[in-house]
Amino acid sequence: MDEQRLLRPPVEVRYKEELEALKATDTDRKPENWRLSPRAVRTFILGSRTPVSYQGKSVPIGKKYFGNDALVERCIITLAGNRGLMLVGEPGTAKTMLSELLSAAISGVSTNTIQGTAGTTEDMIKYSWNYALLLAKGPSREALVPSPLYVGMEQGLLTRFEEITRTPAEV
Ligand SMILES: Nc1ncnc2c1ncn2[C@@H]1O[C@H](COP(=O)(O)OP(=O)(O)OP(=O)(O)O)[C@@H](O)[C@H]1O
Ligand SMILES: [Mg+2]
Repeated sequence: MDEQRLLRPPVEVRYKEELEALKATDTDRKPENWRLSPRAVRTFILGSRTPVSYQGKSVPIGKKYFGNDALVERCIITLAGNRGLMLVGEPGTAKTMLSELLSAAISGVSTNTIQGTAGTTEDMIKYSWNYALLLAKGPSREALVPSPLYVGMEQGLLTRFEEITRTPAEV
C-alpha cells in the first residue's frame, strides 16, 4: 500500500512498526486467534513508559487513548471473554478510534467493518448472493457474497459494526 497517497491510513498501517515490535517481544499467553496478548493490546493503546527494543531499534509506544484507562482494560477483558463489545457514548468520544485500535491490535485489521445506516439490510450483515452465479451454479459457496461479519466469523477476526443505532430496528 502506498502510504503517501492515503488520506487516512488504517491503524494497522499507521502503527505498523509498533504492532510488529509488540508482537515480536510479547511473551504472554494469547487468547485463541489473537495476534497480541491482552497485556500487549493494553500497552499498544495506553502506551509504554519504556520503548520496546526491536530489530536493533528502540520503538516508543505512544499513548493513543486519553482518559479512562480502566475502560480500555474492560474492553480488552470483554473481548478476551469471547463476547461482543458495545461502545455507547456522546459523539466524538473516541468510540470509533478505540474500536479501530482494538481490532488492529487483536486481529491485525481494523477495516473489517459494517457501516450502519438507515439503509442497512440483513444481507449486508449476513451474506448476499451473486445472482448470475446463483442461477448458473445454484446456492454454492462460490455464489455467496460474504459480509464483513461472515468473513470475521470464518477467519476469526474482529468485526466492527459502526453506528449500529442507525440501522432499522427490525434489522
Ligand atoms: N479520549 C480520547 N483520546 C484520544 N483521542 C480522542 C479521545 N476522544 C476523542 N479523540 C479524538 O477525536 C476523534 C473522533 O473520535 P471518534 O470518531 O472515534 O468518536 P466517536 O465516539 O466514534 O464519535 P461518533 O459518535 O460521532 O461516531 C478521534 O479520532 C480522536 O482523534
Ligand atoms: Mg464513531
